[in-house]
Amino acid sequence: HGTSRVNDKGHLEIGNVDTVDLANEFGTPLYVYDVELIRQRAREFKEVFDKQNVKAQVAYASKAFSTIAMVQLVQDEGLSLDVVSGGELYTALSAGFPVERIHFHGNNKSRHELEMAIEANIGCIVVDNFYELHLLNEISESYKKETPILLRLTPGIEAHTHDYILTGQEDSKFGFDLQNGQADKAVQQALDFAGLNLLGIHCHIGSQIFETTGFVMATQKLFAKMSEWKKALNYTPEVLNLGGGFGIRYTSEDTPIPVGQYVEVIIDEVKKQVAELDVEMPEIWIEPGRSLVGDAGTTLYSIGSRKHVPNIREYIAIDGGMNDNIRPALYQAKYEAALANRLNDQADEVVSIAGKCCESGDMLIWDLSLPTAKPGDLLAVFCTGAYGYSMASHYNRLTKPAVVFVEDGEAQLVVKRETYEDIIKNDLRYQIPVKK
Ligand code: LLP
Repeated sequence: HGTSRVNDKGHLEIGNVDTVDLANEFGTPLYVYDVELIRQRAREFKEVFDKQNVKAQVAYASKAFSTIAMVQLVQDEGLSLDVVSGGELYTALSAGFPVERIHFHGNNKSRHELEMAIEANIGCIVVDNFYELHLLNEISESYKKETPILLRLTPGIEAHTHDYILTGQEDSKFGFDLQNGQADKAVQQALDFAGLNLLGIHCHIGSQIFETTGFVMATQKLFAKMSEWKKALNYTPEVLNLGGGFGIRYTSEDTPIPVGQYVEVIIDEVKKQVAELDVEMPEIWIEPGRSLVGDAGTTLYSIGSRKHVPNIREYIAIDGGMNDNIRPALYQAKYEAALANRLNDQADEVVSIAGKCCESGDMLIWDLSLPTAKPGDLLAVFCTGAYGYSMASHYNRLTKPAVVFVEDGEAQLVVKRETYEDIIKNDLRYQIPVKK
């Protein structure tokens, strides 16, 4: 998929660059991003809104993969940017991202993070709870500013993959509940507070969602509230942000729909509700993370040791693992992989791919068909672009891998491989007290 193909040497090529050359030049493990594919996904989202003439913002949820180069790419494609911490905000500001298109999320933003956002004049802050509503108003007033905000609402729908659950009683750490009056109270307060400018409302119903029902139900619930607020408070949100969560294909078990279709369904439902309930058409904002970068990322590993457990299993170990991709260990996430230097060879054994961390749970893939792999062969694990690098850790004091962007036959290093010096750079010597 994307610009991936097999070249005449039988090697995996991404963006017209041979991955064997990439491994030789930059070392392994290596995250490789297909820039053209990221651009394509960005355009798929935007085009649907443009075609239907709907005012919209597509904000990339940078928690999926945040680096300066990625933020630059998001800017180049004209998207907006969602950040959830001072660190992500700092990355965005360092990359020079247009501040008015940055949205700041999080259920426990600190005073310092809020001040940082207000000082930078960022586009909007998504307020999650009453504590934050008061704190933000107080800080805004002290800066003599009126901060644009959305309120994060919890509509009582949880959607994951093919399941969506209606939860009458809300049990989530995020947002103001729609059911029990919290949302109404938050809207009322936000309208009253002089330091805040209530642009609209937000909800996010889950991640890796394959069906559209959850988005339709959330839209209906929010519009029911909007119609109440219109009558009771004479207030209509200018912005309706429906979050992210659009699913991608990791393995053949996954059957997502094209990203544009989610958007079409959302637009149709919003238009329907606007007509039925006689409320003004809001701007529609969405926040895709995974669906913009997930399938554009491939991780290259070198194969090392092997262990044969008679009649049970063949373990093959790679030079990375749960420290660069925690998802299999954390969520039992499944991935597909292939030998990038021998794509035309026939699979002749079933192996399980082990990471190098000192933990039995550090397994990346169970029961993968591969040609008999030898030390030095290159394993490409696909669809690692979202929540791989961003959730990477230093467990076992492993250095974080490098990140390379490939496009049009060119490779550019965008995150350097960490060194051992990086690993100890914040360590301070303990002055062992002299015993008296
Ligand atoms: N907006 C909000 C408010 C979110 O909380 C999230 C993700 C997104 C947007 C983007 O969702 P996406 O389009 O990427 O599904 N670490 C997990 C995923 C956690 C998602 C958290 N929130 C994983 O690796 O599967």
